[in-house]
Parts: sequence; structure tokens; C-alpha cells
Amino acid sequence: MSKPSDLIPPERPFASDRGVAKYFHGRKDILQKFTDQMREAKRTGGGTIFLVQAAPGAGKTALLAECRRIAELAKWETAEINSSDLWDTNTLLESLDQETKQKEGGWSGHLEGGVDVPGVGSMKAGGGYESKKIDTPRTTLDVLKDGKEALLLILDEAQCLAEDIPPHPSDRRTRTRVLLDNIYNGKVKRPVILLAGGLGFTESVFESLAVSRIEGDAFVGLGPLSQASTRLVIKDWLVNEGGAEGNPNPWIDKISPETHGWPQHILAYMKPAIRYLGANAGKMIPTGLKDVLEEGRERRVQYYTRRAKGLTRMQREAIARFLFTIPEGKRFAREDLVAVLKEDLGSEAKADSIFDKAFRKGILDERDGDYIVPIPSMHNWFVDEYGPSRDMSIRPVEIPSSDHGLG
Ligand SMILES: Nc1ncnc2c1ncn2[C@@H]1O[C@H](COP(=O)(O)OP(=O)(O)OP(=O)(O)O)[C@@H](O)[C@H]1O
Ligand SMILES: [Mg+2]
Repeated sequence: MSKPSDLIPPERPFASDRGVAKYFHGRKDILQKFTDQMREAKRTGGGTIFLVQAAPGAGKTALLAECRRIAELAKWETAEINSSDLWDTNTLLESLDQETKQKEGGWSGHLEGGVDVPGVGSMKAGGGYESKKIDTPRTTLDVLKDGKEALLLILDEAQCLAEDIPPHPSDRRTRTRVLLDNIYNGKVKRPVILLAGGLGFTESVFESLAVSRIEGDAFVGLGPLSQASTRLVIKDWLVNEGGAEGNPNPWIDKISPETHGWPQHILAYMKPAIRYLGANAGKMIPTGLKDVLEEGRERRVQYYTRRAKGLTRMQREAIARFLFTIPEGKRFAREDLVAVLKEDLGSEAKADSIFDKAFRKGILDERDGDYIVPIPSMHNWFVDEYGPSRDMSIRPVEIPSSDHGLG
């Protein structure tokens, strides 16, 4: 009979294609921008909103985590928050307190819930936020004003600010606006940065909450990683995680161009690579590479399929008919795609709504008022699957030399 311990598989290296990066590289110019904003906030005692915007899998969450690491090194207080924390005193306190407790060695307390505008306590001597009921109604702004330390609030998936899921109190938007206005205009009386990550339309969500315009130096549209950074990420995974023996360059040379510098794609190839290396004592032989490339390509297609989910075949075909006329990686005007969608789908309203859907799903991304399919191989996949037929062998494309990639 097998022992329970036999049933537990041995620990294996695992590469997730979402979330904080185990081997982070690149984005140096963006991290510099962020550091400059921190310095400025400290200098003026004010604050700002720093927005990182991109299609799914571009590396927003990983970048936010790296910014947080920088802030912690600079002795900033940091906290991951949810969109409700901008208007709900209770949940904001919980997020702030959780961070403090975690640093102190474990969260033990809990906050009283169920009160619409709860009364809350003040800063503890140790720097944490203590929750206790007092009579004066207080706001999320009051909570932030309680502290003196420089504070980094991290809001991932910030596009969710647009969602209106009941049972939210009716003045939720007003409360959110007030807090954002105070942070954005440096009125919290301490250095505060709200670091937000979100999909391509997040800036417009902030606009709808009366943040008129995110300052140019505090706005990042995330593009692919540079070729050099891509190679470094792959190398770390192969050698440090997979235990690859010998020269990893032949594998890196083959894998790197197929990833197009897109972080999700890099991880799509690293998953099978480290599994293969783990099972073969780090040996890098050509048949192993062939299997890794095949599985990586399959995973890329799974990603594209997920992006297209929710669009009907007819809608996909209409988009593909237009993309067929555009070289991959090239920008185009919204009106040009909408015109083709209108021809195929019947009305301007329908065409507009399909365009917006494709944008929200990360099939399209914005570049200075124009649009683009952010990954060349996704552009090709679309045309290949749904457009007029053409030769679709995988073509390596040039990866931009800058990590920004939005030039
Ligand atoms: N600069 C980087 N260096 C190394 N790995 C990275 C880098 N950026 C992202 N990654 C890795 O790539 C994968 C995708 O990144 P991430 O999850 O941050 O993307 P995202 O834009 O937040 O995606 P989503 O919209 O799905 O949340 C993750 O496994 C992440 O750890
Ligand atoms: Mg993310």
C-alpha cells in the first residue's frame, strides 16, 4: 500500500504566466520615472497618481511589484488596495493595517464591519492604523491624513473602478472622486502616490472620476520587453530555475524571437522548458527544444483564444478582414477598422461596440491616438484563423530596442 507521502508529487519548479516576476528584467526607464515621482512627492510633501496601462500579459502586475520593492527600499509605507478602499473606510483600514501586521509578523485583529460610514481610530505609536469606533464619521481621506510617512498605495486591475456592483452606497463615486482629487492634487498633507495598473482604457476610467489628465511623467503605456531583457529573463529561467547545463544561448536564440518580448509569451515557453530540463537533468538537446517550442506556441494560441472569447465568428472575421490589409505591428486609425466592421456588421453602433470590445479584451491597444494589435503573432493568428488565407509560417519580427516599445 502506498504511504500518504508517496501520493504527494515531489516539488517541481513552476512558472506562472501571471503575477509577480521571479526573474524581473528591463523596464529601467519606467522604474526611473517612478523613482522621480517618489522623489518629487517627498520634496513637495504632495502626491500623484502613477498609471501603468496595458493589454493583458504585458507585465503590469510584475512592474507594480517592482515599484513597490523600490518604495520599500526607500522606506515608504506601502499597501496593496482594492478599488473599494478608495471610498470604504473599513476596507481601506484593513488593507493598511494588514500590511502593517504582516510586517510585524502576522495579522491578528479584525475590523468591525456593517457600518456605512464607520468611525475609526488613529495612528498607533508603531506606525500602524488602529481601528476603533469613535463617534465622528470619518472618510478615507481622514484615514490617509492620519499618517505622516510617505505612502505608496498599489491598485492593480484599476479598470475595475468602472464597475458598479451593488450593494455599493450611492455616494461611492463621490467619495472616490474626493479621495482621488486629494491624492492627485497633493492635498493629503503627506507624500502619497497611488500606483495604478490596468487595461488599456483605465485612463478614461480615471477621467470619468474627475481626474482630468494623468501627468505625462506619471503615465506609462506598457509595451514589449526589449530583446536584451527578454534574453535575460529566459536565461534566468533556464539556468537558475531549470538548472540548464552548458551554453543556454542556442535555446535562447530560438525561443526569444517567438516571444515578441511579450512577458506572458516568455512564460508560456518557460513553463515547458523548466519542466523538460527538470526531467532531463538540465540537458539541452535539440529534440527537447523542439518540444518546448511546440508547447510554447500552443500556449500562445491559448492566450489568443482567450482574448477572442466573447466575439462571435462573424465579428472575428470582420476584424480579420481588416487586419489582413495591415502589416503586423503597424498602427491604424480607429475609423478605418470601424468602417470595415460597419460594412460587415450592418451599423455604425454595432461596429463601435465591437471595436470597444476588442479594445477591452486586449486584442487592440492604443498608441498616441492610433491603434495596434499589441503582439505581432496575435495579429497573424487572427488573420490566419479568421481572415482570407495567406502564408502564416511563424515569422520572427524585430523586437524594439527599448523596453517601452511604444515609439
Ligand atoms: N519585466 C519582467 N521580467 C520578467 N518577467 C516578467 C516581467 N514582466 C512580467 N513578467 C512575467 O510575465 C508574466 C505576465 O506578467 P503580468 O502578470 O505582470 O502581466 P499583466 O499585465 O499584469 O497581466 P494581466 O492583465 O493578465 O493581469 C508573469 O508571469 C510575470 O511574472
Ligand atoms: Mg496583472
